[in-house]
Amino acid sequence: MPSLFDPVRAGDLALPNRIVMAPLTRNRAPGAVPTALMAEYYAQRASAGLLVSEGTAISHQGQGYADVPGLYTPEQLQGWKRVTDAVHARGGRIVTQLWHVGRVSHVELQPGGQPPVAPSAIAAKTKTFLIRDGAGGFVETSVPRALTAQELPGIVQDFRRAAHDAVGVAGFDGVEVHAANGYLLDQFLKRGANQRDDAWGGPIENRARLLLDVMRAVAQAAGPGRTGVRLSPITPANDIHDPEPQPLFEYVVRELAPLGLAYVHVIEGATGGPRELPDRPFDFDALRRIYRDAGGRGAWMVNNGYDTPLAGRALAHGADLVAFGRSYIANPDLVERLRTGAPLNKPDRATFYGGGAAGYTDYPALQPG
Ligand code: PHB
Repeated sequence: MPSLFDPVRAGDLALPNRIVMAPLTRNRAPGAVPTALMAEYYAQRASAGLLVSEGTAISHQGQGYADVPGLYTPEQLQGWKRVTDAVHARGGRIVTQLWHVGRVSHVELQPGGQPPVAPSAIAAKTKTFLIRDGAGGFVETSVPRALTAQELPGIVQDFRRAAHDAVGVAGFDGVEVHAANGYLLDQFLKRGANQRDDAWGGPIENRARLLLDVMRAVAQAAGPGRTGVRLSPITPANDIHDPEPQPLFEYVVRELAPLGLAYVHVIEGATGGPRELPDRPFDFDALRRIYRDAGGRGAWMVNNGYDTPLAGRALAHGADLVAFGRSYIANPDLVERLRTGAPLNKPDRATFYGGGAAGYTDYPALQPG
């Protein structure tokens, strides 16, 4: 039976263990440019089997929070190169998470102060994070405008270009398409946000069209064996909902199976919250079986509230990789701590978003690295 500390392949990536650092928004990239402090933060965590970067905007329009990094200017790509070099120097592997937030944004973050974009002009009842006069705070998202069908190829192209530059210029080992947590691709998938009556709304095949177009474009640009995807079938994050997630996501993984992806990353339950939602039943085992039965060979990555015993059970039941979020905020040497059963540092919520080194690079390792 595999353990968290056994090596595994994810497409083209050979991973020394099965512990993944989940993508974590930290809002420490002023002007969307990654900093030397970010390079230190990721390098401290390089013993993970795989690091997934924080969500990184593929375009200015894809930005939804203050000081989130981007992948759309030369300065941003060079900033990321510093991060990937630092991780590689410590023997690690890092993919970047390609992010378009869709309606989860604010006019102050959008090009020309325009409304954010979405499948339909329906506001998300959720908040975003702005920094005004140096002080961070949460504010209601702005009412979005519906994208025209003519604009969608441009969004696919933004994902394609970001994937190409992430691997070719910024030095990432691969990319993860963010299709979870109520952001743009999840908004297209789910009926609560997608009320279109064109070829991109209505039946499942239409609602999945943008995600699948993006996946094919990104896989071509980065290489399928260097491309992953993150899904969250039932999360209520960012006011997202679909009345029938099971057939929707079974269709999605059946269509993803032939692409030859490195991995499929699944958030089980409510992002950062309960794993079971009484009003949103979902069979995650069936989802994995359907992907496998359809010929999907990518690593199956699970996420949400894992500890060592739960991770062991997941690996025994067909998962290949386990992603840890909050424990990675507070434990740069999480692999070593899980291996030895050492106690974990507790994350401090007050320093999750924005700020500097405090609560970011100053969590202690067992052995100073
Ligand atoms: C968050 O900032 O809490 C956050 C950001 C992106 C996600 C999920 C959560 O996908």
